Amino acid sequence: MTQHLVISAFQPEPALILEAARVISAGGLVAFPTETVYGLGANGLDAVAVQKIFIAKKRPSSDPLILHLEDVTQFSSVAALAGVEHLIERLAKAFMPGALTLVLPKQKIVPLEVTAGGSSVAARVPAHPVAAALIKASGVPIAAPSANLFSRPSPTTADMVLEDLTGRIDLVLDGGSAHIGVESTVLSLLGAPTLLRPGGVALEDIEALIGEVLLPHEAILEANTAQPSPGMLLKHYSPKAKLLLLENSEHLLEVAKIYQHEKLGLLLPNSSLELVPDMKVERFDLGSDFPSIATRLFAGMRSLDKAGCTHILAHQFTSSGLGRALNDRLFRAAEGQILKY
Ligand code: TXA
Ligand code: MG
Repeated sequence: MTQHLVISAFQPEPALILEAARVISAGGLVAFPTETVYGLGANGLDAVAVQKIFIAKKRPSSDPLILHLEDVTQFSSVAALAGVEHLIERLAKAFMPGALTLVLPKQKIVPLEVTAGGSSVAARVPAHPVAAALIKASGVPIAAPSANLFSRPSPTTADMVLEDLTGRIDLVLDGGSAHIGVESTVLSLLGAPTLLRPGGVALEDIEALIGEVLLPHEAILEANTAQPSPGMLLKHYSPKAKLLLLENSEHLLEVAKIYQHEKLGLLLPNSSLELVPDMKVERFDLGSDFPSIATRLFAGMRSLDKAGCTHILAHQFTSSGLGRALNDRLFRAAEGQILKY
């Protein structure tokens, strides 16, 4: 049975945090809210507990996990910082706690189960008060991937967690909606700073602080092999329906007409929904600006799936700020295909 505890996102009740921390200490699994998406946590220093995460999510053990830390000073206990202290200091000042994950050489104390056998470790300091309180009360780094079944859209509410993981985990702390809605930005500092996953912190903002950040080679996305970030498989964050992804809204109406006799769902910002009036299809309004689109994107995929859609029509956005992360999640949900028109 999975216990469902409703907790205040602003002033997490200490008794509930303690109950969850006990589950972590006993080697169990706790789903908890972060500012990005819900995480599925276990004691990050306990190899057996960490293995349970992979089983619950049906996630391949080749996909490493992020350690969630109480504060920036803990980076040195799980990672080697030699040579990049100045970068970390600048990044930490601007973005920590927050939606930035750093990949660094791992310390011995981190089990290989966390890093998928690799010599590097990913870590971040979440800003959500429930996440912060849980890590503090547990007294250990908490290893946590997004709390969804492998390759399903990440959960931004406790209900989405339960949809995937009821009966497979011990406890869900329900702190309401995650307010960013897409996962953290993953930045490797193993060599020249490299963006492994666009996310809640914008690339431009990172570059303004530390200079140029490299992008993983395009070929890596296409080949689906030898990714620098093992989790960056093309099929990821997928709804069950086939996601039809357009480059922009230009040919939206024409494509919607072609697919209108399928069970079609529109996953679009409101300005684009207006381009497809009077058509009998499912609609999910993503809102108007990037922050609101980010909070609704994964919910929209799940909602249109539930409505029985066989096809979901969406389009890419301007690739700046949060738009880069939105485009990445949509591109993966579409299994790397953009409809050319
Ligand atoms: O916002 C987030 O980051 C959420 C919340 C729960 O913190 N977590 C999350 O975890 O998205 P997950 O496991 O769904 O995604 C972690 C990503 C994967 O793409 C994984 O491959 C990458 O981080 N990663 C983890 N460790 C790595 C490492 N040592 N080297 C390269 N990439 C790594
Ligand atoms: Mg995930």
